[in-house]
Amino acid sequence: MPQDIYDKIMMVAKRRGFIYPSFEIYGGIAGFYDYGPLGSQLKNNVENLWRTFFLLKDHCLEINTPTITLYEVLKASGHVEEFTDLTVDCSRCKRSYKVEDIIDKEVSVDQAIREDNITCPTCKSKLSNFHPVNLMFSTTIGIGEGRKAFLRPETAQGIFTNFHLLYQHSRKKLPFGVVQIGKGYRNEISPRQGTLRQREFSMAEAEVFFDPKNKTHPYFDMIKDKELFLFDNEKEWNISVAEAVKHKIINNQALAYYIYLTQEFLFTAGVNQKKFRFRKHAADELAHYATECWDAELLSERFGWVECVGIADRSAYDLNAHIISSGVDMYTLRKFDEPRGIVIKKIVPKMNILGPRFVGKARKIKEQLELIDPASVKRITVIIDGESIDIPKECYDIVEIEEKQIGEKFIPHVIEPSYGIDRVIYFLLEHNYVEGKKNEEDYTVLKLNPLVAPIKVGIFPLIGDDKLIDIAKNIDVILRSEGIATYYDENGTIGRRYARMDEIGTPFCITVDHESLTDHKVTLRDRDTTKQERQKIQDIAGYLKKKMTI
Ligand code: ATP
Ligand code: GLY
Repeated sequence: MPQDIYDKIMMVAKRRGFIYPSFEIYGGIAGFYDYGPLGSQLKNNVENLWRTFFLLKDHCLEINTPTITLYEVLKASGHVEEFTDLTVDCSRCKRSYKVEDIIDKEVSVDQAIREDNITCPTCKSKLSNFHPVNLMFSTTIGIGEGRKAFLRPETAQGIFTNFHLLYQHSRKKLPFGVVQIGKGYRNEISPRQGTLRQREFSMAEAEVFFDPKNKTHPYFDMIKDKELFLFDNEKEWNISVAEAVKHKIINNQALAYYIYLTQEFLFTAGVNQKKFRFRKHAADELAHYATECWDAELLSERFGWVECVGIADRSAYDLNAHIISSGVDMYTLRKFDEPRGIVIKKIVPKMNILGPRFVGKARKIKEQLELIDPASVKRITVIIDGESIDIPKECYDIVEIEEKQIGEKFIPHVIEPSYGIDRVIYFLLEHNYVEGKKNEEDYTVLKLNPLVAPIKVGIFPLIGDDKLIDIAKNIDVILRSEGIATYYDENGTIGRRYARMDEIGTPFCITVDHESLTDHKVTLRDRDTTKQERQKIQDIAGYLKKKMTI
């Protein structure tokens, strides 16, 4: 089979220490990859650039929570029931497939099930037994009975379960955003797309909390005239952020702001702007928690359009679910100018029914019921000591009462940009991979943006003369002490040394020659233009730092 760009990138990635298949000495396993020395550096740079956007530009707060997550959390969030892929089995060769992966592009999953004529891609027998499979890895905390738990499928829940503390930390002011960068785990059914579909992967997620009556962003005006390319499976728009909201293509300014921020991040990191679009989810594609979702999609030569970031409006879904299940007050307050008597609906538990029916659990159920806002739920389920209990209507009354209040309580809405860091990294490799010939030999250049390139500068003495080596090594020490990642190399011709740096995406090279001894200058070569210019040694750190800031 002729090699396509994916094969070539994965070969270079392995040879030069970006990406290795995990556990390869034992045969490896689909869906697991390691980052080698350069890959780890690239990943750190991408994550730190993301932090620049979300922590510095956007004032979000960063937290870190466990990847092992209690059953109760993911039961409440809906993942136990809903985090599934529809699967179909082959009774002859015993393989299972994710339905979405094996049906024709034009056919929807619903249609595939209705028509019931899909064949096994391997042995061509008719497939049957459509069934959802939950993608979460389950585990147990502790020995013996232990506590049921899962490896988290998203980092978001760690933020929601701390919401009341984070709200305090933000001095009870909305909007505010919280981010988390870390591993997510999904037991993907048939991961065959390299680092694009792994079973353990890196996510960077922001959960930004808004007053539902004011879903805009303080910086919206600064970006409202910027252009977006939007697509909704039928229509396309090249449209400004403000117009997209005005025409209800995007439902609110807060969501539109984060769609734009995502575009700015990806363009700054260095994806190809011509291979980029935002695609709106159709109603039947939306995740169980989302009211609207846009995917930032990038075009791959082998895999077609691939989602790299999902930007969803999760409304009050998650906080509402955790209030109901945990009984913890996670409401926020919209203050009145002065206290007002307002009519509110309240749940009044009926202890005469709860008592006999739930005995020892009745008091805890009562306390949780009193916290629930009846306006936000259709069916009431509470979780008591890990058990999920449906509370039928006859167990409580809903009454209207007038109370003097300093403000009204509400559950904030959440806008969530959710990034797959490994997918971003893959596309930075694919979109910046340029191949050609030099002196009859294959020559590849990885045109990574200096902001994310793992090595910023190669440092070479022109020849193995001790005096030149001393200067070059000295420059290496100085640049490293300035926080600039360097690679010192004195082996081979200058051409080969440039080629080694071009292949791993190093944007600059410095060569020390005999003139350097007298003029204290070096030759600085730019990877993309291949132009060479003389620069004073003392100016190099400042010059490179400028190239590494946005
Ligand atoms: P897909 O439809 O490709 O399975 P998804 O809709 O399940 O993706 P989300 O649930 O929106 O993806 O996850 C948020 C982000 O996490 C995605 O935009 C993607 O970049 C990343 N992601 C999801 N699943 C994987 C995976 N198996 N491997 C690597 N990254 C992933
Ligand atoms: N947190 C968003 C997702 O997992 O899709």
